[in-house]
Amino acid sequence: MAEPTDYDTVAERYAAEIDRRPWNALYERPATLALLPDVRDRDVLDAGCGHGWYCQWLLDRGARVVGVDRSVRMAGLATKRLGNRARIIHGDVSDLGDVLADATFDIVLSSLVLHYVDDVGKAFCEFARLLRPAGRLVLSTHHPTHDAKSVAEPGYMVEEVIEERWGWLDQNMRYYRRPLSSLTEPLAAAGFVIERICEPKPDEALRQADPKGYEQLRRLPAFLLMRARKDA
Ligand SMILES: C[S@@+](CC[C@H](N)C(=O)[O-])C[C@H]1O[C@@H](n2cnc3c(N)ncnc32)[C@H](O)[C@@H]1O
Repeated sequence: MAEPTDYDTVAERYAAEIDRRPWNALYERPATLALLPDVRDRDVLDAGCGHGWYCQWLLDRGARVVGVDRSVRMAGLATKRLGNRARIIHGDVSDLGDVLADATFDIVLSSLVLHYVDDVGKAFCEFARLLRPAGRLVLSTHHPTHDAKSVAEPGYMVEEVIEERWGWLDQNMRYYRRPLSSLTEPLAAAGFVIERICEPKPDEALRQADPKGYEQLRRLPAFLLMRARKDA
């Protein structure tokens, strides 16, 4: 199977666009932020922080933030954006044992990362290790039906790496498409209890900003979001 895309290949182009892209600014982010508990005075891990949009949002609301990303260039952009306000680590969310101690965080946030991760079970176990008792995991990822073609053939239950043209990046992007149970079963096995599952609906602001995208999202959700609690 081909590897998911390494963000080093698109880092600068991605960072230049993503803060204001309607699918992110008006669809994914509001829904993800709505699932977050109060972050003031909390220790938060931004797992797959990219260029640090969420890190900045969290810092501005009084959280103590560590960001981790496996792309050197993305981690570099986050460091440039945040200076010494946050600790940014270059690393893999599935393997942070050498850099972060057990029970360090109240919240782990992972936005649009897990569809690039080979072994989500390993990542969830790592999040469980890093969270304090009753800590929360908030995640967003591509919706299992995000790619209608591959849902039809080879079929919904097949886990595979698919490739899609992202015109705005002028790049073919590869990522996993997985059925819902490929997330929920490993979450339970890692000791999480799912509190919320969210399939965001596009709103009027998105329709104004991106009428074509609105029509697409009205028919098929692009993202799936969850909040889970580390079981005491
Ligand atoms: C679509 S971007 C999202 C960035 C950020 N979370 C946001 O929402 O703005 C995906 C990010 O996940 C990172 N990533 C993918 N797999 C990773 C892994 N196994 N460990 C750490 N970061 C990873 C990529 O390098 C990239 O920066």
